[in-house]
Amino acid sequence: MAIIYNDKTKTFMLQGKDLCYAFWINDLGYPEHLYFGSPVGADDLRFTRAFGATSTAATPPGIDNVPSYNAYPSELSFFGTGDYREPAVQIVNPAGDRLCELLFDSYDIVKKPKISGMPSMDGGDTLVIHLKDKINGFAADLYYTVYDDCSVIARRAVYKNLTSGDIRLERAYSFSLALPDRNYEMLSLYGVWAKERHIDRIPVHHGVVSIDSKRTSSSATLNPFIAMLRPDTTETHGEAIGINLVYSSSYVLKAEVNPDGTTQLTGGINDFDFNWRLAPGEEFETPEVVIAWSSDGIGGMSRAFHDAYREHLINKKYVKASRPLLINNWEATYFNFDVPKLCAIADAVNGLGIDTLVLDDGWFGKRDNDSSGLGDWVVNDKKLVGGIKAVIDHVHSLGMKFGLWFEPEMVSEDSDLFRAHPEWAIGVPNRKRCYSRHQFMLDLTRKDVRDYIVKAVSDIIEQNNVDYVKWDYNRNVTESWSYCLEPERQMEFAHRYALGLYDICERIVNGHPDIFFEGCSAGGARFDPAIMHYFPQIWTSDDSDAEERTKIQYGTSIVYPLSVMSCHVSVCPNHQTGHTTPFDTRAIIAHLGATGYELDTTKFTDEEKAAVKLQTEEYHKIEDIVLEGDLYRIDSPFDSEFFTEAVVTKDKSRAELICYRRFASVNNEIKRVKMAGLDPDAEYMLEEKGLRAKGSTFMNVGFAPSYPHSDFAAVKYHFTKV
Ligand code: DGJ
Repeated sequence: MAIIYNDKTKTFMLQGKDLCYAFWINDLGYPEHLYFGSPVGADDLRFTRAFGATSTAATPPGIDNVPSYNAYPSELSFFGTGDYREPAVQIVNPAGDRLCELLFDSYDIVKKPKISGMPSMDGGDTLVIHLKDKINGFAADLYYTVYDDCSVIARRAVYKNLTSGDIRLERAYSFSLALPDRNYEMLSLYGVWAKERHIDRIPVHHGVVSIDSKRTSSSATLNPFIAMLRPDTTETHGEAIGINLVYSSSYVLKAEVNPDGTTQLTGGINDFDFNWRLAPGEEFETPEVVIAWSSDGIGGMSRAFHDAYREHLINKKYVKASRPLLINNWEATYFNFDVPKLCAIADAVNGLGIDTLVLDDGWFGKRDNDSSGLGDWVVNDKKLVGGIKAVIDHVHSLGMKFGLWFEPEMVSEDSDLFRAHPEWAIGVPNRKRCYSRHQFMLDLTRKDVRDYIVKAVSDIIEQNNVDYVKWDYNRNVTESWSYCLEPERQMEFAHRYALGLYDICERIVNGHPDIFFEGCSAGGARFDPAIMHYFPQIWTSDDSDAEERTKIQYGTSIVYPLSVMSCHVSVCPNHQTGHTTPFDTRAIIAHLGATGYELDTTKFTDEEKAAVKLQTEEYHKIEDIVLEGDLYRIDSPFDSEFFTEAVVTKDKSRAELICYRRFASVNNEIKRVKMAGLDPDAEYMLEEKGLRAKGSTFMNVGFAPSYPHSDFAAVKYHFTKV
């Protein structure tokens, strides 16, 4: 990896693993983008410059007969001085004008600094470009980080008020990125509860194509991710650029096709319902955006993100460590449990390879259904005679670990906490609040609220020897308003909520480094890189039906590594869809992530117990491949009856292939599968078929998987280098 500055051509070239990014400081002092893509020589790339559609454009201020800022591929577009594209930044100056002109001042090459108060990738070498408006003193620093072990570039902007008066940020995005033409399609991941991260792909067009969240959460509706693909880009071939925000609150990502036929990407914190007052001397840090590059199609882009997040974002202590193989009581009991029932659930799996019992919602306060008790993090001794201690002692005596559910950001109207502190719940005085799952949200912009949450959760987990925490979040903000913010600061709410969330995560999660924390949000509604920084695994979806999970897990893997996806084997008929899928299929699909179980184990037959033992043994055999290996998606459940994926160790010595077929049929057409990701020159043994052949053979000559004869059938194959 290298960051090269050529003083003669004023060109910055960033070279990362399999990528190159270049821009130059043009004669106006404007950072003008030149190139982003596969590695190229450290040459003068200015020959690529071209101008089109400039006839009615303004000039830069005070300079006649020179193309306007609108004409240059931008590193950070700004508003009011001739650039009519989507600006990355818009300010209101003390005089009320909205002008700024951010031009090159200086640069530094540094070790990557942390963003204060927000998670970001670590490591890599960083270029900082200092831009300044010489008239009003407003400034921006652009950060670019490249890595030698993953094909991504991390970017962000820091805005600085170096003037003598208050400046209001109306928009403060993290980046602009210029693409050379408009021949792109945008892939995004949309969804809803129990249908998270499905795939959309549409062409860009003149004007703006955008996705966003206004929920103060990254949301199940649209993940904070877009990929820009060439129309002929496939899973295995072609250019793919991925854009992913390390952010958990309201965001926006945009692709704009300009009259000159170029495309500009931009985005960051959503400027809808946002502004931020910046006093003299203050800075505003924006969330990081991770930009992946691949010339090997969508699959290559996904592997770039997976590598980047495993090496530089997710907690190093846990990212590659063997995961708790848990039994969660939620779908087994919902709120209806007591100590004997929980102990029986644990007893039933003793010796089957399941090593952790997670006690889900309902152990605290007055909580026999979802209408009360949130916020009262006090063990309900009436329901759990002997307290959770009775369960924990029993589970520990079996040699298992114990996990506990919290929903720290919430409060029920019917709770002691709400009765004592109604002003701690987000809401506007004299207006009624929206309910969602009968609950309200706590105002994390307030320090006293955050201190309460940190103490309440820490007390329980410290006093009870808890090994694992599941952190849930089941609704989105409405009535954004805080008692503690001045009226002119109320539109800072959504970003301040994110900062508050990261503060309590720092103090609770990082404050208890030996406890394993799992993220959750009504299933997978807050599945983003910032959450992943604190939570090495996240509950992927409340839809645990194996058939539906093929789509949800396929879509999630477009950006996020398998190791982050929590995947459970649950009962059939499935509680969400009513589908009945084979027990083995449920395990095979759940094995493409951090596996667990979520069903009433006291009802297991002997046959099921034997199956679970085999499943957990199998999972432990392949867990390292799932946590650390490379993913190759072969058949998409979105456009076929099949879901086929391979996971291969980094050294290509072992691999597993998962083959799933939706429906059985008679006189069916032949389905052949070609393996992917093997070393073409090495010899492999395909265990299940007793076949020995070259990697190239398995990857080029397809074989017909032996699907069991049923609907929703799955079969697994293991390859070992010989
Ligand atoms: C939503 C989660 O996704 C479920 O797994 C479960 O924890 C419930 N909340 C509990 O209320």
